[in-house]
Amino acid sequence: MSAFATSLSLSLDALPQQFEIKPFAAPLGAEIIGLDLSKPLTEADFKRIHQAHLDHALLVFRNQQITPEQQIAFSRRFGDLQIHVLKQFLLADHPEIFIISNIIENGQPIGLGDAGKFWHSDLSYKELPSLGSMLLAIELPEEGGDTLFASQQRVYASLPEHLKKAIEGRRAAHSYTARYDDEVVVGVQRPKLTPAQLAEVKSVVHPVVRTHPETGEKVLFVNENFTTHILDIPEDESRQLLAELFAHSARAEFIYRHQWQPHDMLFWDNRALVHLAAGCPLDQRRRMHRTTIQGDAPF
Ligand code: SIN
Repeated sequence: MSAFATSLSLSLDALPQQFEIKPFAAPLGAEIIGLDLSKPLTEADFKRIHQAHLDHALLVFRNQQITPEQQIAFSRRFGDLQIHVLKQFLLADHPEIFIISNIIENGQPIGLGDAGKFWHSDLSYKELPSLGSMLLAIELPEEGGDTLFASQQRVYASLPEHLKKAIEGRRAAHSYTARYDDEVVVGVQRPKLTPAQLAEVKSVVHPVVRTHPETGEKVLFVNENFTTHILDIPEDESRQLLAELFAHSARAEFIYRHQWQPHDMLFWDNRALVHLAAGCPLDQRRRMHRTTIQGDAPF
């Protein structure tokens, strides 16, 4: 069923809900209080959420005790869902949900333990990178496990003129495998990619500065996890330029740090932010469920 048809059938039996949108005292983000995502949303409530997502780039829905079906249904209202290339970490019977977890069961990791160890925008290595991701807290560590977000609209706006000039009209390559082998958690090496998986994640090229398709704002669109090089300039120049951009893009004044509460669900805009998982002590369990909504080709 298309996202539009799903949205229509869900909103038919929906009732209006009373909820509050409270912006954070931070460069991005807002808290949604009082909304129950286990219930279908009316078109008016959906529009409010959609606008808040564009305004704040990150929404924190508190106390969402929702099922995988409900998370998928809400995510689908924003677009088609993307299925992660690491099929072994998809939730059984719900491949739209990607498990991010450091938990080992019967000697096997149940999810990707180190997802997000480097700053990134989800699926920037695809021709159609993600519009946004929803991450639901299933099991949280007592210590750590925070997720950090940095506004790449603000970063672009504040770049020194010489950097803006250096990247004007430039394109960069993104690859899923760029740092794949650097990522290890609780001593568990990432699974080796099969030829079929490698074929699914061929390197792609995107503009270094993209225009947000809904807000029209300019956004820096390179990240340390997946961007390998800037095209049509010497390799050492590309390395130096990316290092300067990455340093700028993660400056403290552009960051919101999320400390998770039980049953939080976050919805961030991958067209506007990069994010990073800060990690937690190795003996503490953490399990999150992510849905990833497909976006447009960056321009
Ligand atoms: C991610 O990069 O999607 C995961 C973030 C997290 O686990 O905090």
